[in-house]
Amino acid sequence: MSSSPLVSDPLLAWRARFPSVEGVLHFASHTMGAMPAEAEAALAEYAATWSGRGIRAWPERWMAVPAEVASSLEQLVQASPGSISLHPNVTVAQAVALSCLEFTPERNRVVCTDEDFPSVLYLYEGLARRGAEIVRVAARAGRRIEEADLVAAIDERTALVALSHVLFRTAQLLGLDTVLARARAVGALSMVDAYQSVGIVDVDVRALDPDFLTGGSIKWLCGGPGTGYLFVAPRIHARLHPAITGWFAHEDPFAFDQGPQRLHAGERRFWNGTPCIPAYCASRPGIAIATEIGGEALREKSLRLTGRILELADENGFTVGSPREESRRGGSVCLDVPNAERVCARLLASDVLLDFRPGVGLRLAPHHYTRDDEVDEVMSRIRVAVDAER
Ligand SMILES: Cc1ncc(COP(=O)(O)O)c(C=O)c1O
Repeated sequence: MSSSPLVSDPLLAWRARFPSVEGVLHFASHTMGAMPAEAEAALAEYAATWSGRGIRAWPERWMAVPAEVASSLEQLVQASPGSISLHPNVTVAQAVALSCLEFTPERNRVVCTDEDFPSVLYLYEGLARRGAEIVRVAARAGRRIEEADLVAAIDERTALVALSHVLFRTAQLLGLDTVLARARAVGALSMVDAYQSVGIVDVDVRALDPDFLTGGSIKWLCGGPGTGYLFVAPRIHARLHPAITGWFAHEDPFAFDQGPQRLHAGERRFWNGTPCIPAYCASRPGIAIATEIGGEALREKSLRLTGRILELADENGFTVGSPREESRRGGSVCLDVPNAERVCARLLASDVLLDFRPGVGLRLAPHHYTRDDEVDEVMSRIRVAVDAER
């Protein structure tokens, strides 16, 4: 395949809503997506409401914001209405979910992997104090996690299977169907960290059927920092009583009931204190745009452009550290070029946005706003930077 700037690309219709991608080569959406222009307007509206409406902002506007953002996320991942609650980040969202669980000797294992994101691994580590035994499945060569190893690690002692859908470092997409089926078969719950999949991989929670799924706004959803979310399968809502809770989880927060806590029947039972309204206002446009485009179209474009990066990596003799097969490929490609950290710094200084992670080198990611010709351009800029740092 040759460079293809003439490919007709319907997703570029949304590009005008991301003026910040002009004048740079934006290949960092796996770590921080571009800001949509509407996010600035949403923050200005938030400030005007705060200053102009004062205390009246809550009933008139702000109380509706979390449900609007959650509803957009529910549409994006095909989840039923009222199944997603918002949180400041994935770590807190997972901590709330974990606070619902007991880890007793006959069933106290948490199965995760060595390649999950450090922040959630630290949380699982802390569960040892609550009686959990942590089983970390090791990666094979190339930091690859094998689904068969996960299935083998799950048994009647497993309380929770907690896994990334796409691994943050290598962008390996895990085939979770057999793994979650095994969890269900032995009576374990499942929690999927979908931060690196939702917004670039077509995630359908009806098909995947996890008990919990978490993600956030800053990366593929182009919503900036401050919005994490927790999907909880409605079938288990009523039996979950989070220990991390607060007044906004009460069925009537403004009754100021001194307790015992009476949890809201729906997804609000997973809230705690005052919601982070400014972050939710800022994240709403990016999430809405991903939802308008839809998971299938996002995935199709991602595979086409990451395929082109792989082709050019081979032409340049760059070592690829992320999976090549489409069924195993997330949204980013890792290039283990010589002196990758310095190459990354050089590129960032010249407005090529990508990042470096120890162990895999450069990570770069096209997204819905990327033009095909920018893929060719970024690869030639990497070639020049690698040669300059030799
Ligand atoms: C897979 C994955 N999980 C979690 C996080 C971070 O979670 P938090 O929202 O708690 O910062 C990241 C990246 O920052 C990630 O890539």
